Amino acid sequence: MKLSGLLFSSVVLLSSCGSIDGSQQGPGALRVLQTDPQDGALAYDGVVTITFDKPLAGETVAGAIRLVSANRAVSLATRVDQQYRQLQIRPQTALIAGLSYRLLISTSLRSIDGRRPADPLVFSFTAHAESAGLPATPTPPTLPLDLFVDHCAPCHNPRRPAGGLDLSTESALRQTALNVRSRQLPLTLIEPRRHDRSYLVRKMLFSGGIRGEPMPPAGPLAAAQLRAIIDWIDSGASE
Ligand code: HEC
Repeated sequence: MKLSGLLFSSVVLLSSCGSIDGSQQGPGALRVLQTDPQDGALAYDGVVTITFDKPLAGETVAGAIRLVSANRAVSLATRVDQQYRQLQIRPQTALIAGLSYRLLISTSLRSIDGRRPADPLVFSFTAHAESAGLPATPTPPTLPLDLFVDHCAPCHNPRRPAGGLDLSTESALRQTALNVRSRQLPLTLIEPRRHDRSYLVRKMLFSGGIRGEPMPPAGPLAAAQLRAIIDWIDSGASE
């Protein structure tokens, strides 16, 4: 199915708090830093991307986002990217050219450290007839085992499995982390396809929302390394 491009003829924050960057929201609120597309730009693949100042807690997204036209709700797929602190919203049906749509984000949305928007956020845009190609499906990434062995296994190994976690081999990683509950918070360590609900990723973000130390304790992995782990989890965490 091809999705319509969206012409954002008027991206406006309608709520009372004022500017789109949330600069008038109180300290401690979850804030929007950027939207893509911006006002008047074309969303070639129909995806709306909103960048926040904190990574979102994936388990709070369902029910917090609605796209409506007149009184009609459009079905949506949402995807949280915790590394880039983004929320991606993709309509599941073609939008109707010339019709205006409103994207509603409620205050039930949370960052991993528990912040919420100070006010509900509302973006308005008009759908454009331009059809858009879906991005090519990338080949599924493989388990970046070397990263776990190099950066985690010194402490997470069979002799000293810190926190009960053994990240020294693929089978140990699967046994002690895949679909296994964290001992620290009521979250799964690695939930296939959902890095945004995986506590192991949250420990590696260095953005709060955890018990104990962030991982690895010496400092965050390089962005590309964290990306490889996130991509592997989101692809289903298969071999
Ligand atoms: C220097 C030792 C050390 C290194 C290296 C290390 N960890 Fe840890 N890890 C610990 C200790 C100690 C704990 C338990 C206390 C805490 O969480 O602070 C722990 C706990 C954890 C937990 C929490 C387990 C639970 O049940 O919630 C996760 C997840 C984790 N580590 C992931 C990693 C990952 C992923 C890496 C590599 C990128 C890594 N750790 C590297 C020492 C380490």
